[in-house]
Amino acid sequence: MAVERTFIIVKPSGFERNLTGEVLRRFEQRGLRLRGLKVLKVSTKLAKEHYDEHKDRPFFGELIEGLTRSPVTAAVLEGESAIAVARATIGATDPIASAPGTIRGDFAIELAENIVHGSDSPKSAKREIALWFDKAELTKA
Ligand code: RTP
Ligand code: MG
Repeated sequence: MAVERTFIIVKPSGFERNLTGEVLRRFEQRGLRLRGLKVLKVSTKLAKEHYDEHKDRPFFGELIEGLTRSPVTAAVLEGESAIAVARATIGATDPIASAPGTIRGDFAIELAENIVHGSDSPKSAKREIALWFDKAELTKA
């Protein structure tokens, strides 16, 4: 057990349905603390860097289009086992397989419209936080 930081995005699919507050509320209610938060329209460059691990997948174009078409909210969350806790709060990648009670299980059906991103490992969290936030935009405590 360790206090960790993770990175989440309320994706355009969440923004367009006015679910940003609801998604952030669920992470806060779970016990994670906000350390950084911003609303932005994502550039194609940033979207491609963010999803670089998927660059050779057939759905990469759709993935980049999906992250850049409307504003997003990016956040850094901190807490005990924050990476796993956020992923469990989000649910499975495919909303059809996501349990009710999870964000995707309650608000999504389509894979490409699954509302929220969460870092999948400590290495990803570190990389994504550095990619999306300047140090000065994050609070220590
Ligand atoms: P995310 O990175 O957005 O938090 O999602 P994830 O870890 O649960 O899933 P990941 O494997 O990283 O996939 C990133 C996003 O790509 C879309 N996807 N489409 N057509 C497909 O087979 C497929 N597989 C994944 C999803 O929108 C997923 O969130
Ligand atoms: Mg992922």
